[in-house]
Amino acid sequence: MNPNKALWEKGDFTRIAETMRDSGVALAAQLEITKGMNVLDLGCGDGTTAIPEAKLGANVLGVDIASNLVAAGNRRAKAEGITNCFFQEGDATDLHDLKDQSFDLVVSFFGAMFAPKPYDVAREMVRVTRPGGRIIMGNWIPGDPTLVAQVLKVSSSYTPPPPEGFISPMLWGIEDHVTERFGEAGINKENISFLRDTFTFTAPFSPVECMKRFRDYYGPTMNAFEAAEKNGKASDLQRELEDLFTIQNQSKENGGTSIPATFLRVTVIR
Ligand SMILES: C[S@@+](CC[C@H](N)C(=O)[O-])C[C@H]1O[C@@H](n2cnc3c(N)ncnc32)[C@H](O)[C@@H]1O
Repeated sequence: MNPNKALWEKGDFTRIAETMRDSGVALAAQLEITKGMNVLDLGCGDGTTAIPEAKLGANVLGVDIASNLVAAGNRRAKAEGITNCFFQEGDATDLHDLKDQSFDLVVSFFGAMFAPKPYDVAREMVRVTRPGGRIIMGNWIPGDPTLVAQVLKVSSSYTPPPPEGFISPMLWGIEDHVTERFGEAGINKENISFLRDTFTFTAPFSPVECMKRFRDYYGPTMNAFEAAEKNGKASDLQRELEDLFTIQNQSKENGGTSIPATFLRVTVIR
C-alpha cells in the first residue's frame, strides 16, 4: 500500500474538516473565481474549498489520494444539490488522467504539500494549468508557532523517524524551496509571489474536544499516539497537545473554539 495514501485514509479527515467550513468559504471568496472557470482543487479532502468554489460558479474537479475523502466530497456535493463539482481519486505526483493546460486555476490548500516527490507535484500542477492561469497553494510553515505547524511538530517528535530519503512536507512552507520547485517546472521567479495568511479552525465545542478530533481522526497525530502508547508516552503527548490547543484558543464564547493558524500562500502565474 502507498504509505502516502494509507496515512490519509487511516483516520477520517472529515471530522477535522468540520472545523474548517467557515474558513474554507472565506478562502474561496479570495480566489477571484468567475462563473464557468475551470478549477482543479488538488488534495481537496471532502471539499473544504472545492464546494465553496463551485458555489461561486466555477466548474470544480476535486482530486485527492484518499478514497474515503473523495466519497465524502461527492456525498457533500450531492446533499447540497451541487452539480458543478465532482471529486475523484488521484495522486498529485502523477495526474495522468488530466489533460495539459486544462484548468484556469489550480488550488491546493494544505493538500499537495503532503504528497511525496515535490518536484513532480510542481511539474504536474504547472502542466495542467493553462498559460496565463494561476496556481494557488496554502502551505504550513516549519517552525511557525501557530496551531497546525505545532501539531505536526509535536506529532513528529513522538513518531519514529521517517524512512531515509523522506522529504518533509513542511519544506513547501519555505519560499526558496517553492521557488526552486516551480523553477524546475519552468516558472520564472517573477511569476511567483508569497504572502502570510491565516486560516482559523472554529468549533462549537472546547479546544480539548478539538484536540481529541486530531488524536482520533488526523493520520499524523494518530500515528504519534500509536507510537507514544508503545513507549508509555501517550499521556505526555496528550498533555502537550491539550495545552497547545487551549493556549491558542481565541474564542470569546464559553466552551467554543477559534484557533488561527498561519500559512504561506503561494501564487504562481503560469
Ligand atoms: C490536511 S488535508 C487538507 C484537505 C483539504 N484541502 C482541506 O483543506 O480540507 C490533506 C489532504 O491532502 C490529501 N493528499 C495527501 N497526499 C496527496 C497526494 N499525493 N495526492 C493527492 N492528495 C493528497 C489528503 O488525502 C488530504 O485530503
